Amino acid sequence: MTPEQRLRWIVKPLVFVLCLMPLAWLAWRAVTGDLGANPIEATNRFLGDWALRFLLITLTVTPATRLTGQAVFMRFRRMLGLFAFAYAVLHVSSYVGLDQFFAWAEIWADIVKRTYITVGMATLLMLIPLAATSTKGMIKRLGAARWKALHRLVYPAAIGAVVHFYMMVKADVREPLIYAGVLAVLLGYRVVAAWRRGAKPARRTV
Ligand code: HEM
Repeated sequence: MTPEQRLRWIVKPLVFVLCLMPLAWLAWRAVTGDLGANPIEATNRFLGDWALRFLLITLTVTPATRLTGQAVFMRFRRMLGLFAFAYAVLHVSSYVGLDQFFAWAEIWADIVKRTYITVGMATLLMLIPLAATSTKGMIKRLGAARWKALHRLVYPAAIGAVVHFYMMVKADVREPLIYAGVLAVLLGYRVVAAWRRGAKPARRTV
């Protein structure tokens, strides 16, 4: 088996199954009645947590690749990003279906009135074009430069997700602050890398 075949037929499916584990864990807890006194809230929060975690994991791929020189990490970026989107969609669906019972007027009132919901909505709206253009075909159609520019939306989306969490919390802000710290490191890495690239003297072409 070549390394490419091993990656495609063993490692990638394994990572895929691993990404489904939080969902399996949630289903198990639901079936065994282990979701506490407010299972709807627990479900919604669990899915929101994992959407944010997958976003941050996706943002770790580029620094991990650059720091280790292992380009293989890049092969997982799209899958991880799509899992972030899938968990975000499930999170919002649990809010719409389980929490609000599809009461669209109430949901709209929530989006307009509660700032953390507005921020959550904006975050989801930013993730949609990223998921929709994640295929190789879309990279070709858009052209690499435009695709890259569009996918910079992942940065405000990640900031939006952390702000959404921070604003939602009423008293203990430690958890969202930990996520904010991780995000600051991941974004800080990119700022420093871009600055270093810009600071390097232009290569002579003659
Ligand atoms: C229309 C979009 C969204 C709506 C309506 C929404 C709604 C909610 C609600 C109702 C809660 C729980 C509030 C509570 O229990 O008091 C919540 C928490 C949360 N949401 Fe969202 N959300 C949206 C988008 C997102 C997105 C896109 C992400 C991440 C990518 C996200 C991540 C989170 C996180 C991390 C929490 C906190 C979970 C915890 O308490 O551990 N949300 N959201």
